[in-house]
Amino acid sequence: MKTLITNGTVVNATGTAQADVLIEGEKIVALFSPGASIDSGGGVTADTVIDAAGKYVIPGGIDAHTHMQMPFGGTNASDTFETGTRAAAWGGTTTIIDFAIQKQGERVQDGLAKWHELAGGNCAIDYSFHQIIGGVDDDSLKAMETLVDEGITSYKMFMAYPGVFYADDAQILRAMQKARELGLMTMMHAENGPAIDVLAEQLVAQGKKTPYFHGIARAWQMEEEATHRAIMLADLTDAPLYIVHMSAKQAVEQVAWARDKAKNVFGETCPQYLYLSLEKQLGARSEQWGEFEAAKWVCSTPLRSEEEGHLEAMWQGLRTNDLQMVSTDHCPFCMKDQKELGKDDFRAIPNGIGSVEHRVDLLYQGVVDGRISLSRWVELISTTPARMFGMYGKKGVVQPGADADIVIYDPQGHTSIGLPFDASGGPTGKTHHMNMDYSAWEGFEIQGHVDVTISRGRVLVAEGQYHGSKSHGQFVKRGLSQYLI
Ligand code: URP
Ligand code: ZN
Ligand code: ZN
Repeated sequence: MKTLITNGTVVNATGTAQADVLIEGEKIVALFSPGASIDSGGGVTADTVIDAAGKYVIPGGIDAHTHMQMPFGGTNASDTFETGTRAAAWGGTTTIIDFAIQKQGERVQDGLAKWHELAGGNCAIDYSFHQIIGGVDDDSLKAMETLVDEGITSYKMFMAYPGVFYADDAQILRAMQKARELGLMTMMHAENGPAIDVLAEQLVAQGKKTPYFHGIARAWQMEEEATHRAIMLADLTDAPLYIVHMSAKQAVEQVAWARDKAKNVFGETCPQYLYLSLEKQLGARSEQWGEFEAAKWVCSTPLRSEEEGHLEAMWQGLRTNDLQMVSTDHCPFCMKDQKELGKDDFRAIPNGIGSVEHRVDLLYQGVVDGRISLSRWVELISTTPARMFGMYGKKGVVQPGADADIVIYDPQGHTSIGLPFDASGGPTGKTHHMNMDYSAWEGFEIQGHVDVTISRGRVLVAEGQYHGSKSHGQFVKRGLSQYLI
């Protein structure tokens, strides 16, 4: 089966070129100068020709931080692997890296096996896992030795969430020593959890129980301090470090400081920290929910103050490469029965926002707004995640030999984000396929559109129709980070 994409502008992280792209089976096999595929002697006979005139042909998006059906906050994230990866495909993402979970007293191997069971046969797009080590002890440290052979080359620890996933400094030090030995990337949730819990308890005791105070309890100082501590522990152990979901400008300064000293320290932010704020979203109220409306945007790290310059600092970090990655931290919960668990106390609101469908679009809006270049867009949504997590060459680039994971993006198109039906059931013309009863991005307008999503040669989305299946996605065994020598 051959597919030819003609007349498009191929955009890679290295630049743009007018080229036709030939797909054979699951792979990209050739790039031709425009028209040469048809005109040259013998030409190419393709089963399907897709005209991409006026459009960008880019590598499929890679979202390196998702939590499909994660048990968290007394409930489960509302997207299953099936619904979440389908929504991802609608939005131009062709690979996710989710998190397999091990907790204190559980075996790492059992956690990983469970996530294989949950995802296997249920994904519309390709997927891989990072391993959460939620309980560092002799057994889990030993089990880390098996991860590389399993194609799991990164693991996450938490300086937050005491009593759930929390690791203390001694545990972090021991895990980093092991990671250095094995070449694993340490991913860190960098917030000072024990101190945050004290602040949260004091706020609640003062009657400050609404979701807004989630943002106050999780002060930027807690993120800066933990980021610095993680960097120091990584420095001591010579372990590479990747700080996840960064939102505080002072924490990004810590990453920049380490990178200026040539440390293997990397930083990730998320669309919510580029566009949403403490003032607007955590300060929101509605007729239906009152001040509890803000629960829609309770996540950790929290949304931060736009007035204090945190949002602008995230964009700046992406421009200067002090931040290298934009993942979603997709961890959706419905308002009904899920976020509602914290109606009387913000500490009980399940933490997380759903965005897996919108990352490619939201970052493209950064191109339209003059914040990042076209190639930087592709680098952020696909190429860097592929390199950071050991998939580059197979994923993250439009070139012969790579998987045919391709998005045709229309810069003249338009995307209105929000629930597709209004309260009376009438169509809104908006886009939202995630399994949530609200959209954290309601009302966002994007000056661009994902026209076609192709995963390993198979068209999943085209002309507003979904053609995928839950059995298409395959597990990707990853190599070591390609940013490390
Ligand atoms: O609020 C968040 N980030 N929920 C998901 C769990 C995590 O810490 O990544
Ligand atoms: Zn986290
Ligand atoms: Zn997360």
